[in-house]
Amino acid sequence: MSKLFVGLMSGTSLDGVDGVLVDLESTKPQHLAHAHQAFSSGLRDELLALNTPGGNELARAARAANALSRLYASTVKVLLAQVADANICAIGCHGQTVRHQPADGYTIQLVNGALLAELTGLDVVCDFRSRDIAAGGEGAPLVPAFHQTVFADQNTHRVIVNIGGIANLTNLPVSGEVTGFDCGPGNVLLDAWMLRHRHQPFDRDGAWAAGGRVIPLLLERLCGDGFFTRTPPKSSGRDLVNADWLGRQLAGDENPADVQATLLALTASTISDAISRFCAGADEIYLCGGGARNTALVSLLSKSLAPHKVAATDLLGINAEFVEATAFAWLAQRTMESQPGNLPAVTGARGPRLLGAIYRA
Ligand SMILES: Nc1ncnc2c1ncn2[C@@H]1O[C@H](COP(=O)(O)OP(=O)(O)O)[C@@H](O)[C@H]1O
Ligand SMILES: [Mg+2]
Repeated sequence: MSKLFVGLMSGTSLDGVDGVLVDLESTKPQHLAHAHQAFSSGLRDELLALNTPGGNELARAARAANALSRLYASTVKVLLAQVADANICAIGCHGQTVRHQPADGYTIQLVNGALLAELTGLDVVCDFRSRDIAAGGEGAPLVPAFHQTVFADQNTHRVIVNIGGIANLTNLPVSGEVTGFDCGPGNVLLDAWMLRHRHQPFDRDGAWAAGGRVIPLLLERLCGDGFFTRTPPKSSGRDLVNADWLGRQLAGDENPADVQATLLALTASTISDAISRFCAGADEIYLCGGGARNTALVSLLSKSLAPHKVAATDLLGINAEFVEATAFAWLAQRTMESQPGNLPAVTGARGPRLLGAIYRA
């Protein structure tokens, strides 16, 4: 069986699609191609709207899944144009989360696997999360098994923090069980506040936040949400962390730059609290996801986590922006080879499960 896999990730930040073409023959994935395709503003707005209840949802969700699948297929085309004669085993496609309600027994990632298989002529694995939830788990995070495979070290206790729209971490002790969970907001609130006040999709390098002053009372109120201190397994999404959630804590007369500074502090402090609370003894912290490129955030994290070493996963050989897409290529390989992809200690599922649905080419 070929060891070449495509991974496609579009996360809660709603910035677009990250794609990789990787050779998974050896433990260290070899990247043959990568691509990022941004969402059009129309598709982004519709996906954001579908995160909350609205009219004619079923038809709108189906149409959005089709539009997404066309964008996924065009990302695959961009990847394949970078290599000659690749014999791809399968595409692992996360889909776009619009609801995540494990306690209610469901999670929804929009994608039309049949259409993606039809458009690419490749086997497609998608809907990775549902089986874990069916087995009593959170369905998330699913990246820890991949982090364990590629980033664990025999002599160093590492923690991998993925700062996407939501932040999640994987705890990789030298001995003992691998754990992991969603810590809370990554970029999602920062992006939303930036869009609302500066009409930009994100706060490049955290520059706007860095010019504001943290509002201590607001930070305290935001950090007071019970989610942050809850013992894992736990997972989160736009269902919990969203503009309404923030709005409930605002007096309304705050300086917008100060709110942005406070949101940056919220992301940094919920991540560092999660590490000190649940990852005792950690030596090194590695960051991935787009948030790893937010220099103001990285410097806050480095300060609050000192004396731990804080660096991007680039240092461990995988570009921080493509770790999650690579994880879904790896999860597709697990499925195609009939191997489980979840870690029950992370998700709380009753046991290891074969994840995903396969749409044959
Ligand atoms: N240079 C940067 N400065 C600040 N934030 C950045 C930078 N580059 C990327 N980001 C953030 O990363 C986000 C995308 O991260 P990503 O890992 O793709 O998240 P998701 O998986 O939720 O889509 C952007 O929305 C933005 O908030
Ligand atoms: Mg993204």
